[in-house]
Amino acid sequence: MALFRKKDKEEVIGLPENLPQHVGFIMDGNGRWAKKRGLPRTFGHREGAKNFKKIVRYCKDIGLKNISFYAFSTENWQRPKEEVETIMDLFREYIVDVRKHLSENTRMIFLGDKSVFDDDLREKMIKLEQDTAHYTEMNLLMAVNYGGRDEIAHAARLLAQQVKDGTLDPADITEDSISENLYTKGIPDVDLVIRPSGELRLSNYLIWQCAYAEYYFTDILWPDFTSEELDKALIDFDGRHRRFGGV
Ligand code: IPE
Ligand code: IPE
Ligand code: MG
Repeated sequence: MALFRKKDKEEVIGLPENLPQHVGFIMDGNGRWAKKRGLPRTFGHREGAKNFKKIVRYCKDIGLKNISFYAFSTENWQRPKEEVETIMDLFREYIVDVRKHLSENTRMIFLGDKSVFDDDLREKMIKLEQDTAHYTEMNLLMAVNYGGRDEIAHAARLLAQQVKDGTLDPADITEDSISENLYTKGIPDVDLVIRPSGELRLSNYLIWQCAYAEYYFTDILWPDFTSEELDKALIDFDGRHRRFGGV
């Protein structure tokens, strides 16, 4: 049983004192999960998508405020066509299904360059963001066609345009103004990154926002990642001594 699971739908037991304000999940290991079972990689993505829903619900139950999930990177387009299509189909399915999955009061934000998606998909994404913009219980951020470097380049273009328009003085470009032009505008920086599957890297995920993040790595593959494992990560985070360059 997960340590923090709601006992009788009312009470949350054993929550650590310092919960992260923003947990970033790198959903890795779907392909290896399928391979281990002699299945095509696409099966791993289906299983990973199911697990994503479970973990999101659990995060909401225990009261996390900002959670982000790396679903598809700007580099993942290099993968075989069939695999990319399956991931995009799962993404489409989720967008249709999302209001059923997440009870009210969850704000949905997509991180990444939406311009590559078909018009109908992009419109659905934007509508979902608009329709949920006023919800305050939890922010669910989903990174699709996301790259950290791409995001910073995008922010630089937005700022450059303001300079060109005469509304911004280059001397006034600060860390804050860069943050405000990222896809995560208004969302706290990541304090805890969780990466399953045994890889010890960020793979271009929220590189600006993770400047002072803590990391939790596990060999478990994403489709097998459970709420118990998330509990472990949160307990671990609670015990970390964060200094932010101080003493
Ligand atoms: C993560 O699982 C999902 C995406 C990157 C879309 P992978 O597909 O990277 O799984 P592995 O790393 O090959 O096992
Ligand atoms: C990172 O996983 C991207 C997502 C989880 C969406 P990858 O599997 O693409 O990362 P690398 O290639 O192992 O660094
Ligand atoms: Mg991978």
